[in-house]
Amino acid sequence: MPPKTAPTLEPIDLPFDEAMDALLDAPKEKEVVPFPVQKDSKISPWLGKIHFGDCIGIMNQIPEESVDLVVTSPPYNIKNSSGNGLKNGSGGKWENAALIKGYNVHDDNMPHEKYVEWQRDCLRAMMRVLKNDGAIFYNHKWRVQNGLLQDRSDILEGFPVRQIIIWKRKGGINFNPGYFLPTYEVIYVITKPDFKLAKGANKMGDVWEIPQTRGIDHPAPFPVELAQRCCEASDGPIVLDPFMGSGSTAIAASMLGKQWIGIDISLDYCELAKSRIEEHSYKAKIQKHE
Ligand SMILES: C[S@@+](CC[C@H](N)C(=O)[O-])C[C@H]1O[C@@H](n2cnc3c(N)ncnc32)[C@H](O)[C@@H]1O
Repeated sequence: MPPKTAPTLEPIDLPFDEAMDALLDAPKEKEVVPFPVQKDSKISPWLGKIHFGDCIGIMNQIPEESVDLVVTSPPYNIKNSSGNGLKNGSGGKWENAALIKGYNVHDDNMPHEKYVEWQRDCLRAMMRVLKNDGAIFYNHKWRVQNGLLQDRSDILEGFPVRQIIIWKRKGGINFNPGYFLPTYEVIYVITKPDFKLAKGANKMGDVWEIPQTRGIDHPAPFPVELAQRCCEASDGPIVLDPFMGSGSTAIAASMLGKQWIGIDISLDYCELAKSRIEEHSYKAKIQKHE
C-alpha cells in the first residue's frame, strides 16, 4: 500500500516574497490517492511490471499513445571515451567509478554514431507510446571528448525539446586539468504539443540540486527524488521507464500513487528493481518477453 503522505518538495532558493508565495501554494502533507486503473484497458496488462528484454522491442508492443510520462536515463556510452582510463579499462583517474565495467549485460561502449542512432530509435519508440499531452524526461550527461564539449544535440536533433533542466548533483571525480570539474547532468524535457505542467510545478525551477544515490547494487542509479520531481511535474497517471535499472522511477511513481511500466535488459537489475520496489511496500512483477 502507498504511504499516507508524500514527501514535500525541497526548499527553493527565492527572494523572501516569492518564497512566501511558494510556501503558501506548496502542497502540504498531501493524501496519496492511487490513480484508478481501468482493468479492461489495453494498457492495464503492462502496469506494475518490470518487463525483461530490449526496450525498443518491448516499447513497440505497448499500445500507441497510452503513456503520460517517460522518465528515464539511458546508458551514456561512457566507455566509448577519449579519456584513457575508461577506454583501456584501467580506470585511470576514474579508479573508483562504478561504470568502469559497464552494465552487467550492456557494455556501454558503442561507436559514437551507432550509439546516437540507437538513442534516436529509442526516443522514436518513446514518442510513439506517448499521449498527445505527454512528456519525456530524458536524463543525459554532457562531457568533453578530445578537448571539445560533446553535448547531446546529435541525439536530440529534430525532437521537440521544450526545456533543459540542470540536475546539480555534485560528486564529480574527473579532475582533468583541461576543464572545470563537471558537477551537473541535464534532463531534456521533450514534449508532445498539448503537454502542460501540473499546477504549481513550474515553481521547481530549472536547476534541481539533488545528491547522488549511493549504496545501491547498480552502477548508475538516479535518486528517487529526481524521478519524483519529474513525476510530480505532470498530472498524468502512467509513467514509463524503458531503462529501469534499479527501479527508482517505479518507486517515485508509486509514492505519488501513479501507475508505472519498467523495462530493463538485465535480469539481475530487474530482480534488484523488484526487491527495491517491494522494500518500499509496493507490488512489482517481472515479465519476460521473447
Ligand atoms: C543509467 S542506467 C538506468 C538507471 C536507473 N535510472 C536507476 O535509477 O537505477 C541504464 C540501464 O539501461 C539498461 N539497458 C541497457 N541497454 C538496454 C536495452 N537495450 N533495453 C533495456 N534496457 C537497457 C541497463 O541494464 C541499465 O540498467
